[in-house]
Amino acid sequence: MDRILVTGGAGFIGSNFVHHLVRETDRQVTVLDKLTYAASRESIDALPQDRVELVEGDITDATLVDKLFSDHREVVHFAAESHNDNSLHDPSPFIQTNIVGTFTLLEASRKHDVRLHHVSTDEVYGDLDLDDPKRFTEDTPYNPSSPYSASKAGSDHLVRAWVRSFGVRATISNCSNNYGPWQHVEKFIPRMITNLIDGVPPKVYGDGLNVRDWIHADDHSSAVLRILEQGRVGETYLIGADGERSNLQVVTALLGLFGRDESDIEFVTDRAGHDRRYAIESGKLRAELGWSPRFQDFESGLADTVEWYRANEDWWRPHKQATEAFYASKGQ
Ligand code: NAD
Ligand code: DAU
Repeated sequence: MDRILVTGGAGFIGSNFVHHLVRETDRQVTVLDKLTYAASRESIDALPQDRVELVEGDITDATLVDKLFSDHREVVHFAAESHNDNSLHDPSPFIQTNIVGTFTLLEASRKHDVRLHHVSTDEVYGDLDLDDPKRFTEDTPYNPSSPYSASKAGSDHLVRAWVRSFGVRATISNCSNNYGPWQHVEKFIPRMITNLIDGVPPKVYGDGLNVRDWIHADDHSSAVLRILEQGRVGETYLIGADGERSNLQVVTALLGLFGRDESDIEFVTDRAGHDRRYAIESGKLRAELGWSPRFQDFESGLADTVEWYRANEDWWRPHKQATEAFYASKGQ
């Protein structure tokens, strides 16, 4: 009964969280993952087998979820369809996994009185203007823009309702953009790094002035663990590391690491409904739970990430061609 269940533990942030759990705690871990295109067994393969077990399965499978919840007291829920561009192409799996899947976990939490932490995104709050002095807080109204962020907003509302109506012991976190090892090459930073490794121009959407608030995936993991262990049931905590950068700033930093300059950038078709800026105020998490990020210097974290992609080409190379073919079909 001391095992923790991690949904989506073979994905980018989920696998970083499983590494964090193995390193920082004595817990045994069960990963429930459908192993979609975004997953990788390799991300958790090297971990000791007596600590981590992988169950291949779907979070919308109520029978499987019920069985797993009957054997676990704690669940951290990362599993999701996570990429905005895919949600604009085909929203259907986003509704299934993010909404129906979360509903399925909530029903099992209710039946077995399992402590659940739901991992969500700052995108549920919509976007901010570039010159707006405000940042998102736990009180910012929901205003999602894309099918992905609307499906995550829907899942958050389900969690809140199950806490209030049924007394489910759940917490929610909404985090900003993550970077680090094991991120799929469809996402911005890995796509830019792997393009640069291949001598292909980095492809920047629109004018490149959109701002994201970057945090290292290991800092996201430490925050989630802190909330699971010390957070107040029913509460929402925003997770962020004061890492606001425009996309052009990120690409310029990457170009510098490859000895190139901004003239190499290719500006491509903008994303439909592209959110302008995200920014997190994480004061509640820091003051109440004493959390702070370990990676305070984004540029040096970025340099480590470039080194990781250089050293792990065997891992990302098989996905690069299909990813680029998808983007090319969209003029991106
Ligand atoms: P990812 O796409 O890299 O990984 C998602 C994982 O979920 C994959 O392993 C996939 O196989 C699994 N999965 C998908 N559908 C499933 C299903 N029906 N049943 C079981 N497993 C399924 O995503 P990520 O970037 O690691 O994001 C993880 C979570 O963190 C998501 O909930 C996302 O909304 C949230 N989040 C991500 C970021 C970010 O910057 N990437 C920021 C804030 C919050
Ligand atoms: O804010 C948290 C969210 O961050 C998470 O909820 C999502 O799961 C995660 O994918 C991420 O969403 P974004 O849409 O912000 O991330 P993405 O990596 O797709 O894009 C980051 C920015 O870079 C965004 O402004 C779009 C831009 N971009 C992206 C790609 C892939 C480009 O300019 N060029 C690109 O090729």
